[in-house]
Amino acid sequence: MIRFVDVHKSYRVDRRDIPALQPFSLDIADGEVFGIIGLSGAGKSTLIRLINLLERPSGGKILVGDIEMTALAEPALREQRRRIGMIFQHFNLLASQTVADNVAFPMRLAGERNAATLRDRVNELLARVGLTAHADKYPSQLSGGQKQRVGIARALANRPSILLCDEATSALDPQTTASVLELLAEINRELKLTIVLITHEMDVVRRVCDRVAVLDAGVIVESGTVVDVFLHPQHATTKRFVNEALPEETAGEQTAFSQVQGRLLRLSFRGDTTLTPTLGRVARETGIDFNILAGRIDRIKHLPYGQLTLAMQGERVDAALVALREAGIEIEELNR
Ligand SMILES: Nc1ncnc2c1ncn2[C@@H]1O[C@H](COP(=O)(O)OP(=O)(O)O)[C@@H](O)[C@H]1O
Ligand SMILES: [Mg+2]
Repeated sequence: MIRFVDVHKSYRVDRRDIPALQPFSLDIADGEVFGIIGLSGAGKSTLIRLINLLERPSGGKILVGDIEMTALAEPALREQRRRIGMIFQHFNLLASQTVADNVAFPMRLAGERNAATLRDRVNELLARVGLTAHADKYPSQLSGGQKQRVGIARALANRPSILLCDEATSALDPQTTASVLELLAEINRELKLTIVLITHEMDVVRRVCDRVAVLDAGVIVESGTVVDVFLHPQHATTKRFVNEALPEETAGEQTAFSQVQGRLLRLSFRGDTTLTPTLGRVARETGIDFNILAGRIDRIKHLPYGQLTLAMQGERVDAALVALREAGIEIEELNR
């Protein structure tokens, strides 16, 4: 759905080129929720704004569907931009217009003049985001979460096939974040929209994304399915993000567990293996002992997963590891 081919981007500041994104290629599939995570200044906003060409790349090609965005002249580009909705951290609503008029704004901009058509579409959008009762209010009368719902309704007004979210939940409290993410997931599911979502929080990625790319100082250092990246982060930056989303004991486990006897192991369970009593069975069958040092069971989108750090002792530890791997459990040795 979105294809970057050898794209790079520098900003010209005081007649010097300051690189913001090193050359990269990336494909985002139709219908997926794709996350881009990185620290402030990593180049996330630059990357997402390249998709609708709010920023022009310094080199390379950007395709949306079959259309090469970078080859379009201004009128055709404006037409294509309507197929791409966008929401922002600070909502960017028009303060002097009501909720209904904010949502109708992009349709009016696209030339829609029929009052009944506008009203019906606005009502439909406000119902989808749960704001029917607030149509005649002004943005200042709304909570942050409600403002972002207006932003989402507005972004959907022209029936886009792609929704870009630039730190859309970063200004919201955790509970409101959860409900806005739930709404985005629902929109992805029901409207089959492709969503590109930028964030500095791994928890946001874990809740809604299918795949993720990690951006560090203008370089994509890692990308893959959220499950793979979350359970087995490779790059130091990714590890920092993942550990942030884990309890403190796990983040500090290397030092905290240095005194522990036995083989130190991290077991990762995904999907069905999370819900079966494999560890107990294997321990009984092989006579090994284990003690659990840290653990977490949660969900990545809808997939249950678990990660346990444990110390294992006994004569038949190797046999136990074989049996666990056969049952689909992934194992990393931490003190080898
Ligand atoms: N319009 C601009 N002009 C010059 N430099 C910019 C501009 N926008 C962003 N940058 C620089 O590009 C880099 C990436 O910025 P940005 O894409 O906003 O990162 P992020 O969204 O991850 O915080 C930063 O070093 C930033 O200072
Ligand atoms: Mg940004």
